[in-house]
Amino acid sequence: MDKKITAPRLIEMKREGIPIAALTAYDATFAAIEDKAGLDLILVGDSAGMVISGRPDTISITLDEMIFLTKNVSRGVKRALLVGDMPFGITQKSTEACVEASIRFMKEGRAEAVKVEGAGPVLEAILRMTTMGMPVMGHLGLTPQSVHVFGGWDLRGANEKEAQRIKDDALRLQDAGVFSMVLEKIPVELAKEISESLEVPTVGIASGPHCDGQILVSYDMFGLGPKMRFARRYLDGKQLIGDAVRQYIDDIRKHEFPSDDESFHA
Ligand code: KIV
Repeated sequence: MDKKITAPRLIEMKREGIPIAALTAYDATFAAIEDKAGLDLILVGDSAGMVISGRPDTISITLDEMIFLTKNVSRGVKRALLVGDMPFGITQKSTEACVEASIRFMKEGRAEAVKVEGAGPVLEAILRMTTMGMPVMGHLGLTPQSVHVFGGWDLRGANEKEAQRIKDDALRLQDAGVFSMVLEKIPVELAKEISESLEVPTVGIASGPHCDGQILVSYDMFGLGPKMRFARRYLDGKQLIGDAVRQYIDDIRKHEFPSDDESFHA
């Protein structure tokens, strides 16, 4: 195994000009495959609420559900940095709730860092966490937990006022001690400017090529979800799995599965 990836290593990678490769995972089997392939960071995203649970957004997934998934993923990860995603309703409650949830992510879920959406009032909690031994990854731009405030999934930071707010928040997150931050669905130029202004790496999704790394929801990258412009498909998963299931049904109907080789005799 190559050297274990840590939060400080990701900052070094930015300095060395090595792009960070990240994906989400939700179970031990996929996590082990992703880890062995050489990813730097594996995020147990609250996107699980959508891709695993079939919910319409990420709002209703609970902390207990996120801890359960993180624990499972941790059993498959050896090398990559494992990041748990703080679900909606924790940072909104209080700094204490956020610190307590982070402790659960690390103690029970075996996460090595926690991702928190937003800035503003959340900065106090982030500062507490980073000064108490809990590495934090920020998340700005189209933060999905704010989808009802935004009124949809559109590009963020497209006007000057919002772009300035995101730039300011990025610097505040860095000051609060985050080791990295996700930039989601912001204009290419804005992502470039923010990435160049920071010492910590940005990890982009739908934010163009100038971030210090890239992340995708693994189910999108495997071609299991709906087609989206920014999410390149590296596998036609839906088609391949569908074909396999159709073949399986066919084999059963024709009495071709199981064969004698696949059966046991006393
Ligand atoms: O929940 C998630 O999967 C995420 C990534 C898209 C960054 O936050």
